[in-house]
Amino acid sequence: MKKILITGGAGFIGSHVMRLFVNKYPDYMVVNLDKLTYAGNLANLSDIEDKPNYEFIKGDIVDAPFIDQLFAEHKFDGVIHLAAESHVDRSISNPLEFVMTNVIGTVNLLNAARNEWKDNFSGHRFYHVSTDEVYGSLGETGMFTETTAYDPHSPYSASKASSDHFVRAYHDTYGLNTVISNCSNNYGSFHFPEKLIPLSINNIKNNKPIPIYGKGENIRDWLWVEDHARAIDLIYHKAKPGSTYNIGGHNEWKNIDLIQLLCKIMDKKLNRAEGESARLITFVKDRAGHDLRYAIDSSKLQRELGWLPSLQFEEGLEKTVDWYLANEEWLKNVTSGDYMNYYEEQYVKR
Ligand code: NAD
Ligand code: TYD
Repeated sequence: MKKILITGGAGFIGSHVMRLFVNKYPDYMVVNLDKLTYAGNLANLSDIEDKPNYEFIKGDIVDAPFIDQLFAEHKFDGVIHLAAESHVDRSISNPLEFVMTNVIGTVNLLNAARNEWKDNFSGHRFYHVSTDEVYGSLGETGMFTETTAYDPHSPYSASKASSDHFVRAYHDTYGLNTVISNCSNNYGSFHFPEKLIPLSINNIKNNKPIPIYGKGENIRDWLWVEDHARAIDLIYHKAKPGSTYNIGGHNEWKNIDLIQLLCKIMDKKLNRAEGESARLITFVKDRAGHDLRYAIDSSKLQRELGWLPSLQFEEGLEKTVDWYLANEEWLKNVTSGDYMNYYEEQYVKR
C-alpha cells in the first residue's frame, strides 16, 4: 500500500484534495498533517474521517525535529504540500508568520524528504502547491505562463515565491523528484470566510456591508476548487520530475462585477427584491500593494495532461451559494471566536 502525506489537508483546498485521494485511491494510505490553525477545520473532512485509508496527525511543519521523526516513522512514498498561511491581508499585518510556515516549513519538509529518500529519489515525489500570485500583477492584457518571471508584491506572494525557489533548488541541486503547480484563485465549499467570495456570502446573508477594496476594478481568474483538486491528482501522477504547471479556469472577473453577480444570485436564493443585496456594497480603503490583475494560461496542462475545467463560473457560484446556505452551522462555527477579532481589526478599526 502506498503512503502519501498531504499537508494542510484540513484547509480549504487541502480538504478537497484529501477527499479526492481518499475516495479515488482506496489502495493508498493518505495521511493528513495539519496544525489546525484558524484556517484548518476537521469538520471539513467529516465525510471521510472514518475511512480505513485516512489518518490525521496534528503537527506543525515549522517544527523540524518533529517533521524528521514523522518521515522516519512513516516512510512516505510521496508528499503533496498545501499547508500554508494563505491570506494576503493577514500577511500584510504579520509577515513573519508567513516566512515561518511558507518558507521554513517548506524547507523542513524538503530536508526530511531529501534525507529519507536519498537512495531512491525517482521513486518518491514531492509536489508543492503554489499560487499564480508569485508572478505579480498584469496590466490589461497578457497572461501568466510557466516561464513568466517571478515578481511577487505581497508578503504572502513573496513567501510562496521563496518556497517555490527552494523546491526548484532541491530538484536542481540534489535531484529530488519535485513538481510545482501555480493556480489562480479558487472558490467553492469549505472556503474560509476571510476571502472575498465566502466573506461576501456571509455578509449578504447577515445584511452586513460588503467591503470592496478601492474601486473594485481588480481582476482575478476564478477556478472551481474541485477542478484544482483534479489537476493536482493528474500532475502528482503524470508530471515529469522538475516540471511546473499553471492551473486556471480562463475565467477573469472584475471584483465589482463578480459581487454584482453574487448579489443577484443571493437575492434569488433569499427571496429578496432584485437589487436589495447590492445595496450592501461598500467601497473601502484599498489593500496596500493590491495587484491589479491575474490571468493564467493553463494551456500546457491542457495540452500535456488533458486537464480541462469542468464548471462554468455562474453555475459554480450558484452551487457555492447553495452550499453556504445549507451549511449554516459550519459557517457559524468558523465565524465565532477569533474570526470576530480579525474582522474588527481588518474592517472596523481601519
Ligand atoms: P487555507 O488557509 O484554507 O488552509 C491552509 C491549511 O494549512 C490549514 O488547514 C492550516 O491549519 C494548515 N497550516 C497552516 N500552517 C501550518 C503549519 N505551520 N503546519 C501545518 N499545517 C499548517 O489555504 P488554502 O486556500 O486551502 O490553500 C492551500 C494551498 O494552496 C496554499 O499553499 C496556498 O498558497 C495554495 N493556493 C491557494 C489558492 C486559493 O485560491 N486559496 C490558490 C492557489 C494556490
Ligand atoms: P482574496 O479572496 O483575498 O484573494 P487574493 O487576494 O489572494 O486574490 O481577494 C480577492 C480579491 O478581492 C482581491 O482583489 C482583493 C479583493 N477583496 C475585496 O475587495 N474585499 C475584501 O473584503 C476581500 C477579502 C478581498
